[in-house]
Amino acid sequence: MKLSDNKATLSFSNGSPSVDLPVYQGSVGPDVIDIRKLYAQTGMFTYDPGFLSTAACQSAITYIDGDKGELLYRGYPIEQLATSCDFMETCYLLLYGNLPNVQEKVSFVKTIKDHTMVNEQMQFFLRGFRRDAHPMGIMTGLVGALSAFYHEGSDLNNQKRREIAEFQLISKMPTLVAMAYKYSIGQPYMYPKNHLSYAGNFLHMMFATPCEEYVVNPVMERALDRIFVLHADHEQNASTSTVRLCGSSGTNPFAAIAAGVACLWGPAHGGANEACLNMLEDIQRMGGVSKVGEFMTQVKDKNSGVKLMGFGHRVYKNYDPRAKLMQETCKEVLAELGLENDPLFKLAMALEKIALEDDYFVQRKLYPNVDFYSGIVQRAIGIPVSLFTAIFALARTVGWIAQLNEMIVDPEYKIGRPRQLFVGSTQRDVVPLEQR
Ligand code: ACO
Repeated sequence: MKLSDNKATLSFSNGSPSVDLPVYQGSVGPDVIDIRKLYAQTGMFTYDPGFLSTAACQSAITYIDGDKGELLYRGYPIEQLATSCDFMETCYLLLYGNLPNVQEKVSFVKTIKDHTMVNEQMQFFLRGFRRDAHPMGIMTGLVGALSAFYHEGSDLNNQKRREIAEFQLISKMPTLVAMAYKYSIGQPYMYPKNHLSYAGNFLHMMFATPCEEYVVNPVMERALDRIFVLHADHEQNASTSTVRLCGSSGTNPFAAIAAGVACLWGPAHGGANEACLNMLEDIQRMGGVSKVGEFMTQVKDKNSGVKLMGFGHRVYKNYDPRAKLMQETCKEVLAELGLENDPLFKLAMALEKIALEDDYFVQRKLYPNVDFYSGIVQRAIGIPVSLFTAIFALARTVGWIAQLNEMIVDPEYKIGRPRQLFVGSTQRDVVPLEQR
């Protein structure tokens, strides 16, 4: 980061001396005011719940311009990556900073394939879960358990060990998600087939059985690969910040990623794709497109507690670029399956049209986010709704790892320790139990 000639001056109305604060410039995007010495200079903290105005780190991985609806991984627009590169190239880009050449890609893909199997003991660990457990509960447990199965990766300061843990995570996530699914439906686990692509192998582990030959459909494979690319990283969102904060204590990298999985589960974050599909199905049951108006009235009524899931974003105040790409994929998948008239897709289009023209949404700059269409695509592929967020976690793992790595090698890295504005009781004395 570059020190700007500009300085911020903080003055106080009570006559306390003003303080000059350095300002830094990034390569693009808003400048930041460096408040690290604020407490030492003034005895005050800043107050910013939800981190609406706080840059917690410097990062060179992903850039979002929410007003323009722009998303760049390492400088490359998401539209170009989604149409010209596959998920393995995207992983390489996020981890190493540049797109791989042919040899680098071949070698990276081989490395990832070398780690696709999980320790056979994981099957017994999985058996401890109820068959109807939510897949994200299972995934939080399984990824956390990797820290016990592969403890040699625990030394965050050992770069070689850390790199192996990264490969293991990217490689084993599809295996674990597919195992969680097979367990829930009582089918045998399918071992990975390493001649298949990353997405193709995942489809195989999800949908093949030992009884019949399974042929990967290239349209579904491409669609899934695109879902992975679009979800691979998204700057300092809640789960990524969780991984950074958790990892900042020097904990085992598998444990830090498990913390990210747990955070992603929430309906305001990764769980929105599941919530969005459930919402579409509810409206469909109520009468479909004819009930859209009624539903929108509820959404706009603050007392109803109803939200239009898949709409709105903390950062994008213009169309989420990933939503456009997902809508395209949605059309391709439905056409391949002969489901062009899929009622949920029609319903989603009708909701989107109304929302984009409605004052409530226009004034608040609420646009569809990636989750608005990704659920319809996944459902068409045959993925059960409850597994959607686990697939998001699978795709986001590489982003979490890239961000964790960046933090560890950053000379300015410190254990994360937010401060607080204390509003509780001041000091008081304990009254003995019998006198209370
Ligand atoms: N439906 C109806 N109203 C909404 C919606 C929505 N989906 N999203 C925001 N609003 C309204 C809020 O009620 C608020 O209205 P007000 O100003 O009258 O009080 C205004 O728009 C601003 O919303 P905030 O909640 O303050 O915006 P914030 O940036 O904090 O929240 C969030 C963003 C959490 C994503 C929100 O838009 C939301 O809950 N959306 C639905 C869930 C969703 O789709 N999440 C996926 C996010 S993308 C991802 O994680 C991949």
